[in-house]
Amino acid sequence: MIGRLNHVAIVVPDLEAAARTYRDTLGARVSAPVDLPAHGVTTVFVELDNTKIELLHPLGATSPIAKFLAEHPAGGMHHVCYEVDDILAARDRLRASGARVLGDGEPKTGAHGKPVLFLHPKDFLGTLVELEQT
Ligand code: CO
Repeated sequence: MIGRLNHVAIVVPDLEAAARTYRDTLGARVSAPVDLPAHGVTTVFVELDNTKIELLHPLGATSPIAKFLAEHPAGGMHHVCYEVDDILAARDRLRASGARVLGDGEPKTGAHGKPVLFLHPKDFLGTLVELEQT
């Protein structure tokens, strides 16, 4: 059901420093910071040959990743995103297997303008999983 790894998201305390680490130390292509007010994050996209890394920093007072950063002040891996062909079919199959879909279960428009859903980390080995319909 899941296809390619679309991205790995890492929450960071200092976006400039994180971008430097990926650009200068690891030699990757990194974007300028992009504010996504609808998602409460500022992100730097790291483009790899086979996938992306998204460096995330809270934006605004009600950012959904503020608590994560408070609990992981040095930063940490936040979620992995897998591509699916049909997000509603994927949701229904996952629910039928007992997996919990976060929120109201209706796909939202993600950072790339495509429908996304998040799955409960306790059902997936302690890892928050995002599904993106591509
Ligand atoms: Co994501």
